[in-house]
Amino acid sequence: MLGAVLTRTQQLVTVFGGSGFLGRYVVRSLAQRGYRIRIAVRRPDLAGHLQPLGKVGQIHAVQANLRHRGSVEHAVDRADAVVNLVGILRQTGRQTFGAVQADGAAGVAEAARAAGAPLVHVSALGADPDSASLYARSKADGEAAALAAGAAVFRPSLMFGPGDSSFNRFGSLARVMPVLPLVGADTRFQPVYAADVGEAIARAVDGDVPAGRVYELGGPEIRTLQELVAYVLEQTERRRPILKLSPGLGRIQAIVMETLDLLTLGLLPNELKLTRDQVLLLQHDNVVSPQAEAEGRTLQGLGIEPTAYQAIVPAYLIRFRAAGQFDAGRLAFPSPPPDTIAPDESGARGAHLRPGEPVGPAVGQRAAR
Ligand SMILES: NC(=O)c1ccc[n+]([C@@H]2O[C@H](COP(=O)([O-])OP(=O)(O)OC[C@H]3O[C@@H](n4cnc5c(N)ncnc54)[C@H](OP(=O)(O)O)[C@@H]3O)[C@@H](O)[C@H]2O)c1
Repeated sequence: MLGAVLTRTQQLVTVFGGSGFLGRYVVRSLAQRGYRIRIAVRRPDLAGHLQPLGKVGQIHAVQANLRHRGSVEHAVDRADAVVNLVGILRQTGRQTFGAVQADGAAGVAEAARAAGAPLVHVSALGADPDSASLYARSKADGEAAALAAGAAVFRPSLMFGPGDSSFNRFGSLARVMPVLPLVGADTRFQPVYAADVGEAIARAVDGDVPAGRVYELGGPEIRTLQELVAYVLEQTERRRPILKLSPGLGRIQAIVMETLDLLTLGLLPNELKLTRDQVLLLQHDNVVSPQAEAEGRTLQGLGIEPTAYQAIVPAYLIRFRAAGQFDAGRLAFPSPPPDTIAPDESGARGAHLRPGEPVGPAVGQRAAR
């Protein structure tokens, strides 16, 4: 995508939404490649955590709001490539799906085209102009505008990684709720590691991903929402019944939560928030399509081996256990069950083991990436 005339350290990439969850991974991948990075967000003061990902002066944040075209054009000025990660899961005030994910995305696409900068756009699996969900329709509109500007479009499934709002959400809920009501319990997801998505985006910025296409990004395994929640309960050592809700009951739960959120002026904890639009989304599987697989429009097709959630998630779910991170010590030095102790040269089972020495990696050490 970017020509080889300029070295990467001379090339500037504007990343809209760089301060968000996925932003951290995208910025890290771009910074490791040497690009200069301009983070464009509404609150640049909240992007300070990205500074350690690059060298001094390599990453800086500017104020930009997708709802204000002028600020978008300024943020794209003299950029060699543009990445749009902006998305919202719920509408609040002027932050509507249409304004941010459809019109806002169109504004970024037009500004990038006018500046002659290649565009990488992040949408979501389930984006569909005919969906009953406003979120999914606005994502489809945003995709259409990005494709018209010649972008590479990425549609991730549910993303995981430290700081995610999926596995952490259920870990947090299980800590305080005696029962976990679950709408969309049988809906299938393909959890994808945010670092793999970040790598795919960085490769697109490098020019190694054919543009003008939609890529569907999922992890190596497909699981129902109920299976994922059961996994969280297992990892956090919590016993909580999962109460499967029909779409009708889910809608009632959403109405209650939306009303509580209004009454508390938006102060309802994020973990408890649920909207009717999300209930609509939860009725459709969120997995990579067979067409995308056949055409290689996947992580594997881009040469990226997707990471399993079991390799990453346990390390950051441990804080939701009854004794939090202090449980890590217990797991780091487990007493090996007798039948797994291998004989040493002397033939004595377990004679090679020293009391107090770890027999396996600590849970926290597994999150190597
Ligand atoms: N997380 C997932 O599991 C998932 C799954 C599928 C697709 N996606 C998509 O992936 C993308 C990244 O998701 P994420 O989880 O990283 O989201 P996130 O953590 O909520 O980050 C969203 C980013 O957008 C910025 N933003 C919001 N409104 C804006 C506006 N009007 N103008 C400029 N910036 C704005 C936010 O910063 P400020 O608020 O400071 O402006 C933040 O940096 C989104 O497009 C999302 O739809 C996410």
